[in-house]
Amino acid sequence: MATAMRVGVLTVSDSCADGTAVDTSGPNLCALLRSSGLAIQPEIHTALVRDERDDIAVTLKQWADQDGLRLILTTGGTGLAPRDATLLVIEREAPAIAQLMLIKSLEITPLAALSRARSGVRGKTLIVNLPGSKKASAECFQFILPILGHALDLIA
Ligand code: MTE
Repeated sequence: MATAMRVGVLTVSDSCADGTAVDTSGPNLCALLRSSGLAIQPEIHTALVRDERDDIAVTLKQWADQDGLRLILTTGGTGLAPRDATLLVIEREAPAIAQLMLIKSLEITPLAALSRARSGVRGKTLIVNLPGSKKASAECFQFILPILGHALDLIA
């Protein structure tokens, strides 16, 4: 029997971590992943962390290096706030994945220009930052879905 593909959804949000807001984006991304056809039986890992570089980096490294996740989607924390964990963790940037999201998102809202989302590879794990809102993260996921399968094949 084929092993289920391990994927991660990491919600990055101070307000959700503090309990003053409810994470709707992370669960929605899990549902989108399950219905996406990307993997027959995705094994989805989830976590919610504050928008702190160290907290984010620890989870990304654990999932990539120890737990064997193939794909990690983060949601939130891509805006202009000066905190940026993904660049610390990835070994090779895949800038065109973020550019694809930006180009498509600008057709929806000029506010997409405020995102500093990054994407790249650590080991055999593809890490993609998505924006924080349920709507924005779902839009960006749909924009990159057509290229995700091939991207994962390339780094397998
Ligand atoms: N991208 C899409 N497709 N749709 C959106 O509504 N919102 C933007 C942007 N990207 C948006 C989007 C907004 S308002 C912000 S501030 C940035 O993503 C960063 O979001 P984040 O700080 O929640 O990560």
